[in-house]
Amino acid sequence: MITNPQTPFPWINYLGNEDFFSLISNTAGGYSFYKDAKFRRITRYRYNNVPMDNGGRYFYINDQDTVWSPGWKPCKTQLDKYECRHGMSYTIITGEKNGIEAEVLFFVPLNTWAEVQKVKLTNHTSETKRFKLFSFAEWCLWNAATDMENFQRNFSTGEVEIEGSVLYHKTEYKERRNHYAYYSVNAPIQGFDTDRESFIGLYNEFRDPQAVMAGKSNNSIAHGWSPIASHYLEIELQPGETKELVFVLGYVEYENREDKWESKGIINKSQAKATLAKFDTVSKVQAAFDELKGYWDDLLSVYVLNSHEEKLDRMVNIWNQYQCMITFNFSRSASFFESGIGRGMGFRDSNQDLVGFVHQIPARARQRIIDIASTQFSDGGCYHQYQPLTKRGNNDIGGGFNDDPMWLIFGTVAYLKETGDFSILDEPVPFDNQEGSEKSLFHHLTLSFNHVIENLGPHLLPLIGRADWNDCLNLNCFSWDPDESFQTTENKTEGSKAESLMIAGLFIVCGRDYVELCRQIGNRREAERAQKFIDSMTEAIKKSGWDGDWYLRAYDYYGNKVGSRENSESKIFIESQGWCAMAKVGLEEGMVQKALDSVKRYLDTPNGIVLNNPAFTEYKVEYGEISSYPAGYKENAGIFCHNNPWIMIAETVLGRGNQAWDYFRKICPSYTEDISDLHKVEPYVYSQMIAGKDSFKPGEAKNSWLTGTAAWNYYAITQFILGIKPDYEGLVIDPCIPADWKGFQVTRKFRGATYHIVIKNAGTNKRVKKLTVNGTVLSGNRVPLQPEGSVNTVEAALE
Ligand code: GLC
Ligand code: GLC
Repeated sequence: MITNPQTPFPWINYLGNEDFFSLISNTAGGYSFYKDAKFRRITRYRYNNVPMDNGGRYFYINDQDTVWSPGWKPCKTQLDKYECRHGMSYTIITGEKNGIEAEVLFFVPLNTWAEVQKVKLTNHTSETKRFKLFSFAEWCLWNAATDMENFQRNFSTGEVEIEGSVLYHKTEYKERRNHYAYYSVNAPIQGFDTDRESFIGLYNEFRDPQAVMAGKSNNSIAHGWSPIASHYLEIELQPGETKELVFVLGYVEYENREDKWESKGIINKSQAKATLAKFDTVSKVQAAFDELKGYWDDLLSVYVLNSHEEKLDRMVNIWNQYQCMITFNFSRSASFFESGIGRGMGFRDSNQDLVGFVHQIPARARQRIIDIASTQFSDGGCYHQYQPLTKRGNNDIGGGFNDDPMWLIFGTVAYLKETGDFSILDEPVPFDNQEGSEKSLFHHLTLSFNHVIENLGPHLLPLIGRADWNDCLNLNCFSWDPDESFQTTENKTEGSKAESLMIAGLFIVCGRDYVELCRQIGNRREAERAQKFIDSMTEAIKKSGWDGDWYLRAYDYYGNKVGSRENSESKIFIESQGWCAMAKVGLEEGMVQKALDSVKRYLDTPNGIVLNNPAFTEYKVEYGEISSYPAGYKENAGIFCHNNPWIMIAETVLGRGNQAWDYFRKICPSYTEDISDLHKVEPYVYSQMIAGKDSFKPGEAKNSWLTGTAAWNYYAITQFILGIKPDYEGLVIDPCIPADWKGFQVTRKFRGATYHIVIKNAGTNKRVKKLTVNGTVLSGNRVPLQPEGSVNTVEAALE
C-alpha cells in the first residue's frame, strides 16, 4: 500500500491478462493497448515527460471550485487522504478532500477487451454535497510511433462518434482499420468533450483543464487535432451517502470488414454494447472482480511456500510469480522504461521467461513455445525479436545472436518437465512463419543444438555472432558512427575469431537437457551424438577458456582474450562464471570453486553482484556497446540482476547454501524495501539493473518490471535454493539452504496432484538424507508422480 503519492519514481502496475492491457502508475498515469503496444495503442502516453508520468486516465472533481483528483495527479491538490493499492491485475486508488472520498478500482476483467473503472463516491460530511465529476482519456491514433511524429497527417485524421454516454474513437476506421475504441459510463451524463483543445484549452494543462475549471463541458466533437473522451456528471450526495459509477474503456475489432458499419459512416456498435451490458451495474463489476481474484488465487496456489521469512514468502508466493506473468505477457515491450514502440517479444527473453511462468498456465506456455519456434530459420538461427500482433520475426533487428537458439531448448525443457506433455515435440512448426516449411518442434530443437556446433571458432568455442546473452558485448561491430545502433549495425563476422564462453557454458547446460530429453523419447543415437559434442565443448573450455582463477569471457574479433587478468579493464565477467560453473566445467579440478570465489572477491557488492570488473572507462571499438555506458551502469559493471541468479545456482552446485542465500537476499525487492529512497523503483518487483560499485550512485535501480530477472530469481529460489524441482518422472527434492534454517514447507501442485512438502534441516544444509512419501521411506530424493487428484505428504530430512 502506498500512502504518499510522491513515490521516488512512479510505482506502476499492470492490468489485463490476455489481449487487452493497461499500465497504471500510483497516480493513475499510464496507457492501454490491445495485444501490441506499438500497433494497437489505445490511449496516448508521453514518455520522459515533465513532470514525470503525465497523462493517464484521470478523474477530476470540482467541488465548489476546489478541483482535485483522487490519484493526486494531475491536479496535485493537497489531499486529506491518499492511498494506492496495487494488487494482482488490479489497482485501487483512493483520495479524499473536504469530506468527499473517491475510490477508484481499475481492472481488466477476464476475457474482456476493456478496462473497467469503478468509481465510488462517498460524502463523509453532515451536509449535502453537490459537485461535478469529469472523466478523461486521451486517444492515441493507434500506431504509437507515428502518433508521436507524423503530425502533418495526424492533426487531420481524428474522428469520433457519440451515442448517449458512450464516446467512440474511430480514427482511420473509414479506411483500413476494423477497430475502434470507446469510453462510457453507466449513467446519464450532463455533457462531454471529445476535442482536447476544447476540454483542456490551448494554454492550460492536465492539472487545470478549462472545462473542469469552468465546471462545465463543451459537448465538443473532435475533427482532427487530438481526440479525447471526457464525461461530465453532476453529482449530489446526501450526508453519508455513497454512489458508484462504472466507467468502461474498451476496444472492438471486427474480423470481417462487412460487419464494420451500422449504416454509412456510422460504426457498428453491437460489440461495444455487448461488453458494456456485462458491466453496467456495480454488482456485475463486483462479480467480475471476484472472478479475477479467484483466477489469481488459483494461479498462486501451485507453489506456496511457508518459511520463517515473511519477506521471502511474500516474494515467492505473490509478487515474484506475478512479475513472471507480466514478463511472460510483455517480454520487454511495455513498461515505464520500455516505450512499447521499440521492441517486440524477444526470442531469448521469452524463452527464459517460461521458467517462471510455465507452472501457472502451461497451455499458454505451450502456445508461446510454438510461436517462438515459428520464427526460427531453417539453419537453426533466429530472429532476435518478433511482433506480438503478427507473430512474425522483426526484420529491423534481424538475427545472428548466437545464444538465441539454445534458449529454445531451455524453454521447451522447462515446459516438458512441468507438464510431461511430450506431444508438443511432434507439433509441426514452420521456419520464419513460411507455410509449407513445417518440421516437428523436436527437429527445431535439434537445429538449435546444431547451430552452435556448426558455428565454432578457432578454439572450438562457439562464435558469438552479433552478441550473446550480453547484447552489448558486440565483438564484431566496430562502430564509429554515433547515428547507428550497436544492435543493428552491420557486423564484421567474416574472418571473425570472436568466441563466447557464455554460450559455451549455456551449450553444455542446455545440451545436457537435450541429451536427457533424447533419452526420454528413446532416441539413443541422437543422445550419444549430442553427448560427444558436449564432452568436446567441456574440453575446449578447460583448454582455452580458463584464465587461472576464473573462466575467460570471450575471445575478440582478433582472437585476443576478453575477461582475463591480462586485460587492463574488465578482467572478469559474471556470465561465463555463472554458465561454466552451472555446467560444472572442471568441477573436480576445483575450477568451479575458484571461479565462484573470484566472483565473490571481485564482483560482489552490498547491492548485488556486478557484471564485470573493473568497469570500462573508455570506449573500446572492438567491444562495442558495453564500453559505451558510463562505469557502473547497465552492462558496463552494473548489477545486472538477471545474471545474479546464475551465480546463486552455481553456488548450489557447490552446496554453499549460505552464499546462495546471501546473493539472493541482496537483490530481492522485499529485502531492499528499506532503501527505497535510494533504490527508487518499485519495492515489489525486480529491476533489470542496480547501479554498480563504480557508478555515481551505487544501489540506485532502473528498468523495473520487464526483465529476465523475474523468472531467473524465481527459478533459483524455488528450484535450487528451496530445491523443489519438477522433473520428468516426479518432483526432485534438492534444497540448498542456509545452515541455520530449521526447514520450511512448500505446497506444490504438480501434474494434477498436490504435494505437501516438509523439509527439515539438521544444520549442515547438505543433501536429502531421508525421504518419506505418504509414510513410506524412499531411497534417493525423487518423489514419484502420484495419481491425479491425490493429496500427498512428503517429508525430507537433510543431513
Ligand atoms: C536485456 C535484454 C536481454 C539481454 C540483457 C543483457 O535485458 O532484454 O535480452 O540478454 O539485456 O544484455
Ligand atoms: C541496450 C540495453 C540492453 C538491451 C539492448 C537491446 O543495449 O542496454 O540491456 O538488451 O539495448 O535492445
